[in-house]
Amino acid sequence: MATTSSLTVLYPGSFDPFHNGHLDVVTQAAELFGSVVVAVMHNPDKPSGLIALADRVQLARRCTEHLVGVRVEAFPGLAVQAASATGVDFIVKGLRTPGDFEVEQQMAHTNHSVTGIRTVYLPCRADQAFISSRFIREIAQYGGKIDHMVPAPVVTTLAGIFGKPSGGNQGPA
Ligand code: PNS
Repeated sequence: MATTSSLTVLYPGSFDPFHNGHLDVVTQAAELFGSVVVAVMHNPDKPSGLIALADRVQLARRCTEHLVGVRVEAFPGLAVQAASATGVDFIVKGLRTPGDFEVEQQMAHTNHSVTGIRTVYLPCRADQAFISSRFIREIAQYGGKIDHMVPAPVVTTLAGIFGKPSGGNQGPA
């Protein structure tokens, strides 16, 4: 779908690792709004990340390089500070479950109270609503199949980290 919009939006996340649900949200946002800044950030609730921040940026870049209007950068601090620094029109978040909505609604209101930035939610694809970075990390750690949930560069990176094949024939998808 060709975009009719010329807005720029910020898509913040920890992307540890970037997965197919993230890719769907970035794709939707680029189609709907025109330009997307994927902000790779630190989540204070996840103090010990699996993949180094710089590597998460490189991975997200490789996974989105086929998309027009998308750039990926690391940002320190708050999402609202990244939004101000990049001059975006609003923040975009993907929603998988009602639980996501509760968390994101509080975050959106808090962020709006700090700088006035608005947040727009995009529903993730129904067939990808189960995908989460946390479970991907856990499955990859034990050599389970993840290649239906993440782009190919992430399969390779996680196999390198855990020294085991991830994405092989370990059972049904
Ligand atoms: O992919 P995640 O882990 O759900 O992303 C969460 C993230 C990184 C978007 C969130 O933790 C965040 O915005 N971190 C930056 C710090 C910040 O702005 N905190 C205030 C939130 S109201």
